[in-house]
Amino acid sequence: MKKSNLHILLCFGLFVCRAFADEHDHKYEDKDEVVLWMNTVGPYHNRQETYAYFSLPFCVGSKTTINHYHETMSDALQGVELEFSGLDIEYKSDIQKTVYCGVQLNEEKYKAFVYAVKNHYWYQMYIDDLPIWGIVGEVTDSNYYIWTHKKFEMGYNEDQIVDVNITSEDKVLLTPSTKLTFTYEVTWRRSSIKFKDRFDKYLDPSFFQHRIHWFSIFNSFMMVIFLVGLVSMILMRTLRKDYARYSKDDDIDDMERDLGDEYGWKQVHGDVFRPTSHSLLFCSLIGAGHQLTTVVFSVITFAILGELYTERGSLLSTAIFVYAVTSPLNGFFGGSLYARMGGKLWIRQMLVSAFLLPALVCGTAFLINFIAIYYHASRAIPFGTMVAVTCICLFVILPLTLVGTVLGRNLSGQPDHPCRVNAVPRPIPEKKWFMEPGVIILLGGVLPFASIFIEMYFIFTSFWAYKIYYVYGFMLLVFLILLIVVVCVTIVCAYFLLNAEDYRWQWTSFLCAASTALYVYFYAVYYFFFKTKMYGLFQTAFYFGYMALFSGGLAVICGTVGYIGTSLFVKKIYSTVKID
Ligand SMILES: *[C@@H]1O[C@H](CO)[C@@H](O)[C@H](O)[C@H]1NC(C)=O
Repeated sequence: MKKSNLHILLCFGLFVCRAFADEHDHKYEDKDEVVLWMNTVGPYHNRQETYAYFSLPFCVGSKTTINHYHETMSDALQGVELEFSGLDIEYKSDIQKTVYCGVQLNEEKYKAFVYAVKNHYWYQMYIDDLPIWGIVGEVTDSNYYIWTHKKFEMGYNEDQIVDVNITSEDKVLLTPSTKLTFTYEVTWRRSSIKFKDRFDKYLDPSFFQHRIHWFSIFNSFMMVIFLVGLVSMILMRTLRKDYARYSKDDDIDDMERDLGDEYGWKQVHGDVFRPTSHSLLFCSLIGAGHQLTTVVFSVITFAILGELYTERGSLLSTAIFVYAVTSPLNGFFGGSLYARMGGKLWIRQMLVSAFLLPALVCGTAFLINFIAIYYHASRAIPFGTMVAVTCICLFVILPLTLVGTVLGRNLSGQPDHPCRVNAVPRPIPEKKWFMEPGVIILLGGVLPFASIFIEMYFIFTSFWAYKIYYVYGFMLLVFLILLIVVVCVTIVCAYFLLNAEDYRWQWTSFLCAASTALYVYFYAVYYFFFKTKMYGLFQTAFYFGYMALFSGGLAVICGTVGYIGTSLFVKKIYSTVKID
């Protein structure tokens, strides 16, 4: 463990980071050792509640030496806990049914197995990075049986393993005094599956490429076209009228001019670029949002190009790496915005910006870790990994954010507002209830949520159930659609707000977009109760904790993108306002 953390740190230092993947090249010669790794065991319905395989009183085979052992940081973060099974398997040599070990049950071991069988425990193993699942036992008529024979069918193509099947056989009734003997059997078969296609059998095209999926994309797409059309139509008409009225200038009769000036968004031109309240937090959120959006885009793109699902944990490693590398963006956009708002506490702003998201993630992980440790679950993050993550935050993310902040303040820290800000803030007039920022914010999230909730179903299902998500093209498309919808909706919201002579558009546009995530969280609650069969404190805490984190991240992304769109829009419309 220590070694691999060091390795990761070095790797970050040198910025050559493809070394995360497993070291061996997946090529074997006849009679080469093939290692069966035992990973975790846990209830079928609680996918994240996993325990080390040997936390159940299973036994290890007689073989003790293997040629390599390898664990990466993302493995540790994801609760992967590989242990050698002790089974002697050699490439392309069949093994008849052989006893590999035995367990004499006593009261305690008996109870452990019965508990596992009752809760539909199943375990996961890896051979040559291919995951295999087996079920612990079976209940019939309140008798508990355990499967004791593992039959492996291995498919090979030239010098590579391309397919593994396991069948559990020989069920034995559990009683407090049975002696269990575990056996295994290996048969090798030539297979025509190509090495690069060997993960295809884990994918579920009939689930992911279902008509509903295509239909939802098509639907959202129509919505985008409609929305963009609507927004541009309404705004262009309104703005053109406004422009026309303004450009007529003096030859217009005074009454109409007064009328035109008396209400509407132009009235607040002296306040619209006033620094927002809580500007430090606001700028930090915007900075973090820039970074997170970039990370999500890059990771989805990498996933499309690289078929990352074939390598355990590589998605997480990529995300951590990209997050660290893109820290300057955070500093740049947060820092420059803060400078433009005239903020003075720039070091504090930078610190908040740099540590906002890492602190949220670590805080949640820490809490869940507590429960995991209490349950002895393999999700408990090892101390060494925590130290490694802290080091990355302090020695990579922080300095890079600092660089970004300094650049941002110096390169684009000068205010470039088209209108001057009045010294005295204008009072905000009374308005109808549905024009209040709170209401606008809540309504703002509805349409963006509607454009993504079907994709949310697929993402949730692949994370919380045993499906591998691989349709990243869909995901990218939906992400783009979401961002476009968010921008359109926030622009409309901000326009209504400004027309009601309320100039607090910065936070409103941010929160209006961010409220999408609130609906996503509500959907997650619905999903938990109606689509999953999770139970128990650990799994529930895990679910709601990480869903909150997911929604939080989505909120920051949507909020930032909404704000960027709106601020461009606001700049555009006020750049034509003539100030007398
Ligand atoms: C594994 O099972 C599948 C489906 O039953 C079968 O098509 C395939 O040939 C099996 N592989 C091996 C190596 O036996």
